[in-house]
Amino acid sequence: MDQLQNDYPWTKAPLVVGAPMRMIALSPLAIAVSQAGGFGFLAAGNDVSNLSSGLDAVKAAQAHDTHLSHFKNVLPVGVGVFVWAGEKLLQASLPILEKYRPAAIWLYAANNTRELVQWTQETRRVTAGVTKIWIQVGSVQEAVEYTEACDPDVLVVQGQDAGGHGLVQGAGIIALFPEVDDALTTLCQERQIRKPSLIAAGGVMDGRGGAAVLALDAAGFAMGTRYLASPEANIAQGYRAAVVQASDGGQATERTKLYDQLRGTTDWPTRYGGRGVLNESFSDHANGLSFEENQRLYREAEKKGDDGWGKNARMTTYAGTGVGLVREVKKAAIITEEVREDARRCLDKVANKLR
Ligand SMILES: Cc1cc2nc3c(=O)[nH]c(=O)nc-3n(C[C@H](O)[C@H](O)[C@H](O)COP(=O)(O)O)c2cc1C
Repeated sequence: MDQLQNDYPWTKAPLVVGAPMRMIALSPLAIAVSQAGGFGFLAAGNDVSNLSSGLDAVKAAQAHDTHLSHFKNVLPVGVGVFVWAGEKLLQASLPILEKYRPAAIWLYAANNTRELVQWTQETRRVTAGVTKIWIQVGSVQEAVEYTEACDPDVLVVQGQDAGGHGLVQGAGIIALFPEVDDALTTLCQERQIRKPSLIAAGGVMDGRGGAAVLALDAAGFAMGTRYLASPEANIAQGYRAAVVQASDGGQATERTKLYDQLRGTTDWPTRYGGRGVLNESFSDHANGLSFEENQRLYREAEKKGDDGWGKNARMTTYAGTGVGLVREVKKAAIITEEVREDARRCLDKVANKLR
């Protein structure tokens, strides 16, 4: 049996993963993705104060779900955390991980490898290895270093098109993924260590993107931006509408530190920036508006509710270059099933072309 099928027995192939998105991917989204045979992640980010209630909600949903209730030995969601948040977050998380034993923890954005090793070892210790270790990486170097240091079960290889945070300097998934794969094959052969399963992320919005990364030999793919346009995502209508309206994402989005600075979320390691839809905050900044005035206008925009988002507004709208392919709001379960089945169809079509 395939390793992922063995570890996450409720999932269906090809594996569709709902990426953790801080304050957005909470239990409703994670449950919906997992109920549809995907793997839903709940984002804790740098604050686990609501994590227990979220995992309680998952347990309750699992008990009543015709599909998930068959898999009583596993809590069928994962939890995403920001490793840069440090020791305090780790210590607050461990009792929760020990109690609920989610199927995986998704570690992201460490200040240094030592922190990742600590999260890995401690998570494995308190959950007796039940909670699998996923680490999101954005470069070949990170992939090699973290694999050697942590023996992760899964690496999520994040390409430059990804929405939200990612390495400021990066490559698109089509170049990054095979290079990571080759480097890990070499490393694992040389060192006689286990090669992690590789999941692709960044720019996958539909079955075509899914098929493309499966063709790169990804074991599955994670989507963030696409799920923003689902009712289960915990975002304002204005944010959701701005995502659906945006098109031509290479032109309409940018990876920048500006949006974090305006929001005051400035704890990220310097190598990261957040990709979001361009708006007046960005164009005014580019045209020389002082940061102080920009932030004052941002605070004003926060009071406008849904009107605060959009091309001609100011609020941060984290989303990837694939926004132009996100054209309507659909339930997360429908997205999961459609993308999975369309990816299959695409690969069949390709196989037919080669006959
Ligand atoms: C709005 C938003 C918030 C995100 N928040 C997180 C997060 O809290 N933790 C994390 O590891 N990744 C986060 N990401 C990145 C995702 O893990 C993933 O790499 C990305 O969404 C994949 O690219 P896509 O947006 O093109 O699907 C976020 C992405 C978006 C769009």
